[in-house]
Amino acid sequence: MNSKPLHHKSVALDSLELLVVMDNETDTLSSVDEGVPQIPEIVHLAARTAPSRHYQDHECKMVFDQLCCGCHGLSVLVTGRLGNVKHTVLFDVGPYPQYWLDNAERLNVDLSKIECLFLSHWHFDHSGGFPDVIAAISAARTKAGLSEPLIVDVHPDRPDQRGVLLPSGVMVLLPEGPKIEAMIKSGGTVVTHAHANAFCDGFFFGSGAIERQTEYETGLHGHHTFHGHEAVSDPLIMDERYLVAQVRGRGISVLSVCSHAGIVNACLSAQSEFPDVLVDVVLGGYHLAGKVMEQRIAATIADLATRIRPRVVAPGHCTGWRAKAQLADAFAPGRYGPSVVGTLYRLQAEAIET
Ligand SMILES: [Fe+2]
Repeated sequence: MNSKPLHHKSVALDSLELLVVMDNETDTLSSVDEGVPQIPEIVHLAARTAPSRHYQDHECKMVFDQLCCGCHGLSVLVTGRLGNVKHTVLFDVGPYPQYWLDNAERLNVDLSKIECLFLSHWHFDHSGGFPDVIAAISAARTKAGLSEPLIVDVHPDRPDQRGVLLPSGVMVLLPEGPKIEAMIKSGGTVVTHAHANAFCDGFFFGSGAIERQTEYETGLHGHHTFHGHEAVSDPLIMDERYLVAQVRGRGISVLSVCSHAGIVNACLSAQSEFPDVLVDVVLGGYHLAGKVMEQRIAATIADLATRIRPRVVAPGHCTGWRAKAQLADAFAPGRYGPSVVGTLYRLQAEAIET
């Protein structure tokens, strides 16, 4: 493997859908600004739900018993289309398989269509659901008569456990990460990538290690990584990766689910891989919550506004309410749409002016 830009292996798509299967937050009632290509959960839910009764001339549809549940984590189902060809990758699964599977059912997700499960980094709130979700997708693919197994793409540097040392002296631990053997036993074909690679016919681009370019995005203070009984200070979490997909005429969407590298660093890295392409939706956890991280909010927003210039910021998961409020101040109306559970971004190709 080499670390040369591989964007030339990526293709520009006709359309892209980003469906948030898991996020910390639920908010299907907020209005959506004009120009934000977001479809609230309740809108696409009502569109596929049959009426249960009629009142006068109105179809009456039951939707409030089908809304997704939120919990601390993030999972995004990414579907690209080019002509008649579609590919689907699942980016992370969140912490608990039963919640992911329940939300996927509520969202009417066809599990058999998921070809690849791409893991952002080895943290429980992204990988905790792994073995059971892999098993469910694998079973669905087998039932659908598909011979190609689910590809599970992870970073090769798997730690045994991770935690964060608090100023109080207590280290809060994440549960142990899923074992490779368990993923294989669940029916996944595990592949490891430490470097950037394009996959699914070039529909999607997974990053390698994210270069640190800004001065203020210095990782997660107090973060430690265990191998066996020994832990090392590991604030940078260099196994983290982002995902990119490009829509013709709109640009690249950057999915950075936890942004331990910094959301600006992730976007700068994506820009260097796709140098002449505008940034479309920046969706994920911007990780700007907590006293230390909150000091980075102003610089992050300034750089997003001036250096990254995305069409839409879609913060979720670990972004935190203080950062979300300031992002909304900076980007709404028109360029702010949160990543809440059940929401759908539908990005359609636009004609490129010549
Ligand atoms: Fe996270």
